Amino acid sequence: MKRVFSGVQPTGNIHLGNYLGALKQFVELQDDHECIYCIVDEHAITVPQDPEELRKHILDVAALYMAIGIDPKKSIIFVQSAVSGHAELGWILCCSSYTGELYRMTQFKAKSGGKESVGTGLLTYPVLMAADILLYDTDVVPVGNDQKQHIELCRDIAIRVNHRFGEDTFVVPDGRFMKAGARVMALDDPTQKMSKSALNEHSRISLLDQDSKIKKSIMRATTDSDGEIRFDPENKPGVSNLLNIYSAFSGRSVEEILADQNWRGYGDLKKELVALTQEALRPIKQNYDEIRESDELKAVLRDGAERANAIAEKTMKRVRDKFGLGF
Ligand code: AMP
Ligand code: TRP
Repeated sequence: MKRVFSGVQPTGNIHLGNYLGALKQFVELQDDHECIYCIVDEHAITVPQDPEELRKHILDVAALYMAIGIDPKKSIIFVQSAVSGHAELGWILCCSSYTGELYRMTQFKAKSGGKESVGTGLLTYPVLMAADILLYDTDVVPVGNDQKQHIELCRDIAIRVNHRFGEDTFVVPDGRFMKAGARVMALDDPTQKMSKSALNEHSRISLLDQDSKIKKSIMRATTDSDGEIRFDPENKPGVSNLLNIYSAFSGRSVEEILADQNWRGYGDLKKELVALTQEALRPIKQNYDEIRESDELKAVLRDGAERANAIAEKTMKRVRDKFGLGF
């Protein structure tokens, strides 16, 4: 069975972009893959976090993983900092990567742009991500489009190390991207991707939003003034984003959807999308509260860390040996 690894940062406001770009894939893959799903708390501290909030958000994401249908009997769910191999391999890979390739990362440029002092962790973050993936001999990494460049870097590092120490050092992974949900844009400004941190809460739909909030955010989503419903991300980013979300939830292609709709205007499209979104998120919300309050949650994370650590330790032994570390 092929191995899958992915992670989500515990930074609150898990939204439709996270779900349609990444999380939905996590669930789909678990029946015929060996899946490992991580809550990447060490990634979260690349920007300052309040410790109490972080601790809460770690459990929030764990509960959300289970609420969307990740089954801890099938998949490993664990917290990154509980397995020390991530930080250790992260350091080793820092010594096999170049500052030039890290400075070139789009996400680093965006997050560091215009700032006088930038945390070192923001620069080396993709190397830690590469360590997360390579630590588990991962074949497939389901993520949103914004992580494409980081996956490429991970492959480059793996190939580089393999070249030096042998092909049996690291498995070179592939990214896996959705057709429709890979890049969900902000509802208020469809030229920006939907994000957890945008100030306007109507820019996103969080997975736990109430029906009334979902309705408000979609009905006030930015479109354009020509009134024609057509898929054209460049000239009509707002309408195209709504069609994309519609397609991701309905499982039908945009072409199919457009071929048999009889919407009179954007309002009709939005109304249908509201109903579709509310219906899709309802079971998640129903499951979430029960799981979040249960004692089972921490037991799942403890068991997951143990299982993850067993795999990680094997890789670390191999890697230390290849690099000549220890005695
Ligand atoms: P993060 O919130 O940065 O930890 O992202 C978790 C996962 O969601 C990653 O696989 C991202 O690529 C994915 N993701 C984040 N934002 C979006 C978005 N707007 N559209 C699609 N996927 C996204
Ligand atoms: N960098 C990813 C993000 O911000 C999260 C992440 C960390 C990840 N480690 C990973 C995703 C390993 C996939 C595999 O979205």
